Amino acid sequence: MKKDNSQFIELIKNQKSNFPLDQSFYTDPNIYRNDLETFFYNQWIFIGHESQIKNIGDYFLFEVGHESIIVIKDKNQKINCFFNVCRHRGSQICLEKKGKVKKLVCPYHAWSYDLSGDLISARMMNDEFEKKDWGLNKCKSKIFEGLIFVNLSDDPDDFKEFINPIKKFIELHGLNRAKVAFKKTYPTDGNWKLTLDNFHECYHCLPAHPEYCHVHSKDYIQAYGAGNNTGPESIEFSKKLSLWNKKTEKLGYLTGEYSDTNFSNFFRSAERTPFDSDRLSETKDGKPGSILMGQFKEFDGGYTTVGTSPFNSFIMSNDFATIFTFIPRGPLKTDVEIMWLVHEDAEEGKDYDLNKLIWMWDKTTIADKKIIENNQKGVMSKKYVPGPLSEMEIGLEKLKKWYLKHLEIKLKNTI
Ligand code: FES
Ligand SMILES: [Fe+2]
Repeated sequence: MKKDNSQFIELIKNQKSNFPLDQSFYTDPNIYRNDLETFFYNQWIFIGHESQIKNIGDYFLFEVGHESIIVIKDKNQKINCFFNVCRHRGSQICLEKKGKVKKLVCPYHAWSYDLSGDLISARMMNDEFEKKDWGLNKCKSKIFEGLIFVNLSDDPDDFKEFINPIKKFIELHGLNRAKVAFKKTYPTDGNWKLTLDNFHECYHCLPAHPEYCHVHSKDYIQAYGAGNNTGPESIEFSKKLSLWNKKTEKLGYLTGEYSDTNFSNFFRSAERTPFDSDRLSETKDGKPGSILMGQFKEFDGGYTTVGTSPFNSFIMSNDFATIFTFIPRGPLKTDVEIMWLVHEDAEEGKDYDLNKLIWMWDKTTIADKKIIENNQKGVMSKKYVPGPLSEMEIGLEKLKKWYLKHLEIKLKNTI
């Protein structure tokens, strides 16, 4: 990328306000590689829930680009995140995506590490060899409310600074006392930015998402479908919102919203909004999808959405949470992973019906996959030129500005 810096800076400067990006941003392998390092590897990313590794030695792998992270529970019940790279000659150690082990044994020459990452055996090494110098490399990680976050950077942003403004929106939902009801990956043939563009606007919701439009009102979709301040808010919806805020505050629950306004490494937003009419949860009939979670003693008719970074969104009813993780897999490929969380005591069949729980986001994400893939195919054409954005695509424009500004700063620093 370095030798083309001036050309690349020119390309960045040429991007027009209120238009999507030029073709190369959605296709070029060099830009993709630069993106991974600049963005994904520099963010705190939610990668899983602690209930996935309940017992000592339980582990799962989180993989992105050339990196593979072992997320494992040690003898002191602590969750450790290690780079899946043997300290001998670099082989990957864990080959299965998840499992349970007593120790981590490299399949190549059998160097063995304990669950805290310390090297415990290495055959036939000379007298100077000190096992203590050759423990596994740790990946920066934090457990917050049962949520496992990692940061692949060697010099990550302070986690507290990252989580502070959005903390209370997550804490409300008691995800530390949750379990994974279902997890599904939607491999999508689209560049990560094209995939996120789609997630940052709800202009497409009316034509593409009958299920989402069945659950959410037109007013909500227009003003909040892609997060706060991303579309015009009608007078009716602002009245509805302020009435609901008063009612909910009386019940003692959180209301309000947050979004990053100053430019930084973070791209966060959060808001609490009311459902329409007497709907209680994000289900087809509006009835509860499971038992109440977190601070809720009764349903408050509201809904919480939190974007912790461009790569994660938390969408939470009072009784279940739907968490999105967007993982770039190549210049033209992105995995959209969804995890549905319910209260740890909720029993399937009795307290929740899995099909009802996943109905809306499953159908909606399958539809999104299709429209993103169609979009990518069109963007690859020689006749693609960015077209003007609508009033309901402010979220996409915000994300684009944040993205371009980051690239610009990074490139200026490397000249
Ligand atoms: S590379 Fe792991 S033991 Fe040799
Ligand atoms: Fe969508």
